[in-house]
Amino acid sequence: MKSNILVLGGTGKTGRRIAHILQNQGHNVRIGSRNGNPAFNWNDPKTYADALKGMDCAYISYHPDLAIPGAKEAIQTLTETALKQGLEKVVLLSGKGEKEAEACEEIVANSGLNYTVVRASWFNQNFSESVFLDAVLAGHLALPMAAAKIPFVDADDIAEVAVKALIDDSLNGQIITVTGPEKITFEEAVQTIAKATNRTINFQEISLNDYLEGMKNAGVPEDFVWLLGYLFEVVIANTDNQMVSHDIEKVLGRKATSFTEFATKTAATGIWNQSIPQTL
Ligand SMILES: NC(=O)c1ccc[n+]([C@@H]2O[C@H](COP(=O)([O-])OP(=O)(O)OC[C@H]3O[C@@H](n4cnc5c(N)ncnc54)[C@H](OP(=O)(O)O)[C@@H]3O)[C@@H](O)[C@H]2O)c1
Repeated sequence: MKSNILVLGGTGKTGRRIAHILQNQGHNVRIGSRNGNPAFNWNDPKTYADALKGMDCAYISYHPDLAIPGAKEAIQTLTETALKQGLEKVVLLSGKGEKEAEACEEIVANSGLNYTVVRASWFNQNFSESVFLDAVLAGHLALPMAAAKIPFVDADDIAEVAVKALIDDSLNGQIITVTGPEKITFEEAVQTIAKATNRTINFQEISLNDYLEGMKNAGVPEDFVWLLGYLFEVVIANTDNQMVSHDIEKVLGRKATSFTEFATKTAATGIWNQSIPQTL
C-alpha cells in the first residue's frame, strides 16, 4: 500500500476531496499548495523537490489550467524532480478536448514514472465553488454558447477515481475519461439548480466577446480572461469533446453522479443560500 501521498492543489476542488478520502483511509497526505508545509508553488520550481521528498506518489492538478503557456515546462520539471526523489507514480488531472493538456499527458506518460491520467469534462462544481458561483447567487447567468451540450462531471466522482488510480496499480498507464452521465446546456444546468434551491435564476445568451469584455470590466485578470475565451472557443465549441464516457462506472462500479443529484446534494449544504455579492 502506498502511504505517503502528495496532493497538489490539495485545497482546491478536486484535491481537497482526494486528500479527505485518503486521510480517512489512513494514508499520510501532504497538501501541495502555496500555503502548504513545505510550500509548493508552480511558479517557483525550486519548491518542487521539498514537496516531493519522501513521497510515494502524487496527484497533480495544475493551476489554473494545463492549457496556459508555461504548463508544459512545469509538468516536465515536476516529473523529472519526482523521478529523482524516488516517487513511484503520479496521477495527472487533465482537461478533455485540450490539445495543450494532451501534450502534458504525453510528458507524464514518457516520464519513467508509473502514471494514470484522469481526463475530465467541465466540473459541476464550477457552479458552486468556482467561476459561475457569483452569477448563480445573483440569480442571473449570462454566457455564450447556449446551444452547447456538456457532460458536466462531479468533483466527488473525479476524486474517487483519482484515489483509486493513486492506490491501485491496475489503472497504471491508462487514460480515464471522466464525464457526467448526460449532456446538458448551461441553461438546463441553471434551471436544475433553480429547482433544487427553489429560486429563480435567469439564463441569458450573450456573445463570447461581450462575455469576455464583461469579465475584463469586472477586474478579472487578463490571463484568466484569455483562458475563459480559450475554454469556450476551443473546448466547448467542439462537439466531439462533449461525448459521454462510461469510465466512471467502469472504475467505480456505480453510475456517475447526475447534474440533478449534484444540485440536490449541493443545495442541502446551503452554499447557494449566501447573500448576493454586492459587485454584481
Ligand atoms: N474546472 C473545470 O471544469 C475543469 C475541467 C477539466 C479540467 N480541469 C483542470 O483542473 C485543474 C484544477 O483542479 P481543481 O479545480 O481541483 O483545482 P482548483 O480548485 O482550481 O485549485 C486550487 C488549488 O491550487 C492551488 N494553487 C493555486 N495557485 C497555485 C500555485 N501558483 N502553485 C501551487 N498551487 C497553487 C491552491 O492552493 P493555494 O492557493 O494555497 O496555493 C488550491 O489548492 C486545472 O488543471 C484544470 O485544467 C478543470
